[in-house]
Amino acid sequence: MPFPKGFLWGGATAANQIEGGYDECGKGLSIADMLTNGTHTSPRIISSETEEGLYYPNRIASDFYHHYEEDIKLMGEMGYKAYRMSIGWSRIYPTGEEEQPNEGGLQFYKKVFACLKKHGIEPVVTLSHYEMPLNLTNKYNGWADRRVIELFVKYARTVFDYYKDDVKYWLTFNEINCGCLPLGNYMSLGIRNEGTRSFLSQVDDVNKRYQALHHQLVASARAVMEGHRINPEFRIGNMIAMMPVYPLTCNPKDMLLFQKNWREMQYYCGDVQVRGAYPYFAEKFWKDNGISLEITEEDRETLKKGTVDFYSFSYYQTNCVTTDKNAAVSAGNLLMGVKNPYLQANDWGWQIDPDGLRYTLNELYSRYGIPLLIVENGLGAKDVLEEDGTIHDPYRIEYLRSHIIAMEQAVEDGVDLFGYTWWGCIDLVSASTGEMAKRYGFIYVDSDDKGNGTFKRYRKDSFYWYKKVIESNGENLD
Ligand code: BG6
Repeated sequence: MPFPKGFLWGGATAANQIEGGYDECGKGLSIADMLTNGTHTSPRIISSETEEGLYYPNRIASDFYHHYEEDIKLMGEMGYKAYRMSIGWSRIYPTGEEEQPNEGGLQFYKKVFACLKKHGIEPVVTLSHYEMPLNLTNKYNGWADRRVIELFVKYARTVFDYYKDDVKYWLTFNEINCGCLPLGNYMSLGIRNEGTRSFLSQVDDVNKRYQALHHQLVASARAVMEGHRINPEFRIGNMIAMMPVYPLTCNPKDMLLFQKNWREMQYYCGDVQVRGAYPYFAEKFWKDNGISLEITEEDRETLKKGTVDFYSFSYYQTNCVTTDKNAAVSAGNLLMGVKNPYLQANDWGWQIDPDGLRYTLNELYSRYGIPLLIVENGLGAKDVLEEDGTIHDPYRIEYLRSHIIAMEQAVEDGVDLFGYTWWGCIDLVSASTGEMAKRYGFIYVDSDDKGNGTFKRYRKDSFYWYKKVIESNGENLD
């Protein structure tokens, strides 16, 4: 049996994409509540104030806030061992600046954790998954301001303390390396520069962005230190968006480009969080890009001390890179790339590549040598709810099967992988497009892109398939 005993099979979601209940129990507005719905071809709008006539899908999402008991029961029925979820910072500190936390928010997650426990499911909790209190964006321009570090540490300390007996596995920032991209300004770093309106073409100040990312890396390290102090049993990980690339050709110039991409996109943050210092190539990268950062001696000490216990990541697809300017372009969750002639893509143009997952697992394990956890992997697709309440999604089963085989091979290669949580295990709002129509779940949620529907839950074919996989600890893939 390739998968170790106790392997954490499960699913993953994020508060802002699943909960809804945006003004319940004293929650403050978060930056995600200000994003409108979009599509594959028309980008989401970042509103600075609520605008008449626009729709904000994250405010309603899948209404987990009112359905959590039913949803967790369904996870239990599938046999989940783990559920990766996040805490909405603005549910705990509505503006981020209160002296005392919001009791209503603390209670909500307490109930969620109790319910998970009842069903024998281990929570894996992200402190910050693409959201922060809107007030911190309005007042400080998000992570661009160093003072936000203290506000985050206060929040982290509060939830570590309050849930110290309920949660063992924590992640600090979701896809922290998204800050390496202009797209990450708003969603990841809470930066909304003057003139920004389109989610896809945000006004970018590269120096500000990398300074903000530095603040997040320091905050992540501080959180790790706080967490270990509060409960030495905590296991705290980072979370990186793996966006692996291949050289399109064996032209050595393509090879150099491939190496540069891996360093700047995949390793820049992970090296800091696992090894406790910026990698050697960072200096040259900053110089080449006109970036000059304020990094204090104390920051360096913090980074050294606050290294993570395990490495977690998301993996959806791969792309190619080349120096050939005429190569065909392909899409991706955060990054565009060059089309790979050997791969098929989903409806949103993301190229499906299970072998890339095996490659990535081996690559990460050989670089870091610490336990790995896959906390996102999945297929967004258009599903059809049949009249009899069934949903036939063989494409999702196929994607899942091929990626489980790739994990199995990596485990046989010797990689220490201890869990897998499928992204969007219950249909939720897409981060990039704001659609419900881009569905990832094993559980269908009856709601459309405008929040119309009964919000009733239905089991897809993949629900039953994954249940068998979990039951057999990954043996039964028929
Ligand atoms: C990851 C994010 O990048 O990809 C999730 O952590 C996101 O929040 C997921 O939902 C899938 O992307 P999308 O845009 O299809 O929702």
